[in-house]
Amino acid sequence: MSAPSSSIESTLVENRVFEPTEATRKAARISGMDAYNALCAEAENDFEGFWAKRARETLTWSKPFTKVLDESNAPFYTWFEDGELNASYNCLDRHMGTPVENKTAIIFEADGGEVTKVTYKELLAKVSQFANALKARGVKKGDRVVIYMPMTIEGVVAMQACARIGATHSVVFGGFSAKALQERIQNASAVAVITANYQLRGGKELPLKSIVDEGIAMGGCECVKDVIVFQRTPTACNMVAGRDSYMHEVMASESTDCPAVMVGAEHPLFVLYTSGSTGTPKGVQHSTGGYLLWANLTMNWTFDLKDSDVFWCTADIGWITGHTYVAYGPLAAGATQIVFEGVPTYPNAGRFWQMIEKHKCSIFYTAPTAIRSLIKAAEGDEKVHPARSDLSSLRILGSVGEPINPEAWMWYYKHIGGERCPIVDTFWQTETGGHMITPLPGATPLVPGSCTLPLPGITAAIVDEAGMDVPNGAGGILVVKRPWPSMIRTIWGDPERFKKSYFPEELKGYYLAGDGAVRSPDRGYFRITGRIDDVLNVSGHRMGTMEIESALVGKTDLVAEAAVVGRPDDLTGEAIVAFVVLKRSRPTGDEAKAIAKVLRDWVGKEIGPIAKPKDIRFGDNLPKTRSGKIMRRLLRSIAKGEAITQDTSTLENPAILDQLSENN
Ligand code: WTA
Repeated sequence: MSAPSSSIESTLVENRVFEPTEATRKAARISGMDAYNALCAEAENDFEGFWAKRARETLTWSKPFTKVLDESNAPFYTWFEDGELNASYNCLDRHMGTPVENKTAIIFEADGGEVTKVTYKELLAKVSQFANALKARGVKKGDRVVIYMPMTIEGVVAMQACARIGATHSVVFGGFSAKALQERIQNASAVAVITANYQLRGGKELPLKSIVDEGIAMGGCECVKDVIVFQRTPTACNMVAGRDSYMHEVMASESTDCPAVMVGAEHPLFVLYTSGSTGTPKGVQHSTGGYLLWANLTMNWTFDLKDSDVFWCTADIGWITGHTYVAYGPLAAGATQIVFEGVPTYPNAGRFWQMIEKHKCSIFYTAPTAIRSLIKAAEGDEKVHPARSDLSSLRILGSVGEPINPEAWMWYYKHIGGERCPIVDTFWQTETGGHMITPLPGATPLVPGSCTLPLPGITAAIVDEAGMDVPNGAGGILVVKRPWPSMIRTIWGDPERFKKSYFPEELKGYYLAGDGAVRSPDRGYFRITGRIDDVLNVSGHRMGTMEIESALVGKTDLVAEAAVVGRPDDLTGEAIVAFVVLKRSRPTGDEAKAIAKVLRDWVGKEIGPIAKPKDIRFGDNLPKTRSGKIMRRLLRSIAKGEAITQDTSTLENPAILDQLSENN
């Protein structure tokens, strides 16, 4: 564990500062830095009182809590433990009888451009009907349900319906393979899978249901009693008698009334699998009370949500961003939001900008990778340039998932935000449940490429390997010193791994984020310098190098050994590079290309297309120390095309470096 320092310089020389405009500041909920500082001081002076007040104001409890934070079994912290509530009630029922009742909850735009809108009242009816259908199939409080669905209203309905009856959902991104799905179903012991026959992306119909069938057929999924299929397209899919049913059919006969099941604040709302540095993906378990508090609160703090806003988070519900800022946060906060099924480049790369104009989007939240690819497209084709669209409805922009480079930040600021909209560069993780370090639009002066300052009550800090604070300007390890309401509660079924991964002993009980960071000397602003473990961030998607390595060596007829590292990529942030030793002699030329394709497709099948290595290099061996340890730092240099300056004296086989540096 060591913090990288190579990219620190650019923070130190970045001296452009963008103050909030007078109008933005005046209209904001947290207005000016004094207001921000006052909230931070309030949290510091009375930590529990601060959170208790927010939890009472922000959420509706069926049974009020009397305890706030319990640290007696650290790091298994609990929040508001004796309180009871329901997440779906807080997202839907709570708005009934208020002006939000007839407000549009979701503006759904399909891949092909068709638009469907539902009000809060209509959404409540759908969620209730589906919740009743789940109940009728025996799904009950505490059961796990896997959701493998496209971006649709029905995807949100499925999540909300689980929450409504106290079932814990586990959403698996629709790009994951049958094997990845099977592993998650098995790990969660899911009683049901909710899916769609197909998904539509970029005009193409892609199967989902057949992947569910394939995954279940791989074995170990006897726990699944029901597969419920949303019929997204008219194309038929295979239906297994006695197990499978259509969503519209099971809903048709159900009542639109389904009282929400109240659960304890610590009841697991969901488990979401994410990549770690070792082993299989971890099931990150979130609570109901603390999580929902954070989802709602950050909608109001970070996005300064107003009743008239049209909010659009482009993340898929298969990722944490789609959980907190599509399925829960906007609904809990009573917002109107856009849910988009398709891809940003179809039918052309102006799609996002055209949709902002069409739906008068006012808060737009996306990932740096999308911005970078759309910059490239706009620069190459004037017809898809954002200047072609009326973006005057925008008032706040957001960025999430990976560091945003200052050039992309400036383009976003200028061409999308018209130099008028603050950019909230939100740093957070699957484990944190919601935003942690981010500017506040009406308060924080912005510095391109910096996520600026922690939210009030978030004790983020940068420490060295012994857990000691490092001075501003020096890079180190990002930690959070005190618990916060929406933090990960445990790793599903593996509390030991939870402790080891996130609260290593040498770090004094601090939460270890897994990222390196540095604070600027002048303002103390945070800048994330990237992961310090073996996790890659490709297009804002987390991938464990070990997962990809084990997929590669799983191709037992071909592969003897594999090592995977990341290399910086202009478009995707990081790109996956695999170094492979085959069981046969080292291939070159066309043969190497053909085998690389076989391996890429194999990884696509084992994990999903997002895990396919961009570059595969073949060697007779891998660089190893005399004790047989693969020297990954050398592989990282080779992947980047850098000259090797590191000490190679401990290397068993130095000649291998030249071979791996060649592009086969
Ligand atoms: C990275 C996504 C820099 C970081 C919400 C983190 C960021 C990982 C930012 C979590 C940001 C996320 N600036 N890096 N604004 N946001 N990251 O779990 O490396 O998919 O640890 O959650 O993404 O990815 P995850």
